[in-house]
Amino acid sequence: MANRADWDAYADEYQSTHGEYLGDSGFLWGPEGVREDDVLALGDVAGKDVLEIGCGAGQCSRWVLGHGGRPVGIDVSNRQLQHSRRIDEEHSVVVPTLCASAAQLPFGDHTFDVVFSAFGALQFVADAPALVADVARVLRPGGVFAFSITHPTRWMFLDDPGEEGLVASQSYWDRTPYVEVDDVTGETRYVEHHRTLGDWVGLLAGAGFVLTDLLEPEWPEGHDRVWGGWSALRGRFTPGSAVFGATLR
Ligand SMILES: C[S@@+](CC[C@H](N)C(=O)[O-])C[C@H]1O[C@@H](n2cnc3c(N)ncnc32)[C@H](O)[C@@H]1O
Repeated sequence: MANRADWDAYADEYQSTHGEYLGDSGFLWGPEGVREDDVLALGDVAGKDVLEIGCGAGQCSRWVLGHGGRPVGIDVSNRQLQHSRRIDEEHSVVVPTLCASAAQLPFGDHTFDVVFSAFGALQFVADAPALVADVARVLRPGGVFAFSITHPTRWMFLDDPGEEGLVASQSYWDRTPYVEVDDVTGETRYVEHHRTLGDWVGLLAGAGFVLTDLLEPEWPEGHDRVWGGWSALRGRFTPGSAVFGATLR
């Protein structure tokens, strides 16, 4: 719930800063610039029912629509979804969306062939085992689950695109969430959760998934875009994103 208010407040700035780079119908897995067209982590989406979790302004779901899939996007932030509606109107296409949290997927069992999240909700949800189990519930047998998150090794470093962000200052195994609290009201304003690579593998296996891919995109030569704590400087030394691909047994 804290993240809902935070994303509602941040949505306009997020879309004006990153919208053009994302592309209205673009599918970007992370700040390194890896696109679904290059890695095909979802497989062929044509004719498939596809759920995007944490869809923001629906850019990835619009890509799915353009490739013959039937996407539905959910996002906890109504303001992000208003941007999705704005882009729909500009292009005269409609990506169906729902304002809902990943903490409880509002869909029946075996509804989707593919579930994905591009830096969407996976690292913002406290009960990740419940979310992964819920993804397994809404997927059909043999369905695909793919998601990108901040690479777990980044947890060791300050979230700083410069030299400070190159110095390990925290244990990789420290799962204490990152929490921002309002100085005045004392209310929680933003939370991010950390799990190790092993935690994610265990979570997926425990929910009945077979891991098919773990992409750790290298920072491309000549790519000089700074995105929050991601930069060419850090990208030369450490992976910034992890893209998991899994299939439901
Ligand atoms: C970094 S943005 C990524 C959005 C989109 N994939 C993109 O590349 O622009 C993260 C999105 O996840 C959404 N989000 C955060 N926590 C969520 C939750 N618990 N359930 C659903 N969406 C959530 C945010 O509102 C935000 O739109």
